[in-house]
Amino acid sequence: MSFRLWSLLLLGLSLLTLAQSGPPLRTLAEKHGLQVGAAVEPNLLLQDPEYAQVLAREFNLVVAENVMKWGALQTTRGQFNFAPADLLVEFAQKNHMAVRGHTLVWHQQLPRWVYGDFTPAEMEAILREHIQTVVGHFRGKIAYWDVANEVIGDDAELRPTPFEVLPDYLEKAFRYAHTADPGAKLFYNDYGAEGLGPKSDAIYALLKSLKDKGVPLDGVGFQAHLDLNFSPTAARMAENLERFAKLGLEIHITEMDVRLSGPGSKAERLQKQAQIYQEVLQVCLRQPRCKVFTLWGVSDAYSWRAASEPLIFDADYQPKPAYFALRRTLQQP
Ligand code: XIL
Repeated sequence: MSFRLWSLLLLGLSLLTLAQSGPPLRTLAEKHGLQVGAAVEPNLLLQDPEYAQVLAREFNLVVAENVMKWGALQTTRGQFNFAPADLLVEFAQKNHMAVRGHTLVWHQQLPRWVYGDFTPAEMEAILREHIQTVVGHFRGKIAYWDVANEVIGDDAELRPTPFEVLPDYLEKAFRYAHTADPGAKLFYNDYGAEGLGPKSDAIYALLKSLKDKGVPLDGVGFQAHLDLNFSPTAARMAENLERFAKLGLEIHITEMDVRLSGPGSKAERLQKQAQIYQEVLQVCLRQPRCKVFTLWGVSDAYSWRAASEPLIFDADYQPKPAYFALRRTLQQP
């Protein structure tokens, strides 16, 4: 190899190392009063030291990807299994990270027994017991709870759920959670509502009615599971966030990932992915009530959509263009 080629190679390598050893996202985010989070599977903390390392270095918030869902916590009626979730909370405390709890009322990942033939009074007792036990268990340790997840369907109507036998189940869920931990901020969380449209209108109307009734609702989470077409555009998203902000709600980006699949070369798609991450972060930074920016995982290796490489670290923990785009955005004043 020629001298010139060698020096180019060395320059390339040192640039890469320099980039990797630059300030982590969490340090930069703190200057903006922003928390940057990632969804976590606690078993990976035990199995993969690099996973734990990258997580603790780059993020200052964690959310349980699965272990705080109803099916994981109360698989059998009346028996609660907190061990994996406790592990996650301990990890977070040790590494000075905040915790988002996810989730109390969702129509998915429910244990079978919840689909029993219950009277409204029975369902009320079931819901109250679950929320009181779970939120009570973590009292003081969880900053934000996704009390309700994906309650509005893609048709902009309330989704069918076993809880609906109890009228006002949603309102009640927020009240039980608030009683169990008055210090936790309580959220409604959903996907496909980042922009303006029938679904986000329905969510807006629902949250407004909850607020009007005095339900303890503090914020709204936009999941932001996106693809390279990034619909909606950043401008529409900013407009949408603003109307929720005007309801007095705190705003979180809760589950961001951007699927890489589509036409174009890999390099082009990685650039486009980076741009979308950057745009959503910018929308959040420009909205004074947007306080949390969370990704749905750390590395592509363990993503729920691993095949479409939607995250900011590749399967070998190498930062992708999306990582550097987020870092550059956070480096701006
Ligand atoms: C997903 C997890 O990532 C998967 O591991 C699991 O199999 C299914 O749920 N919206 C949500 C999250 O609110 O809880 C979902 O998480 C992704 C979509």
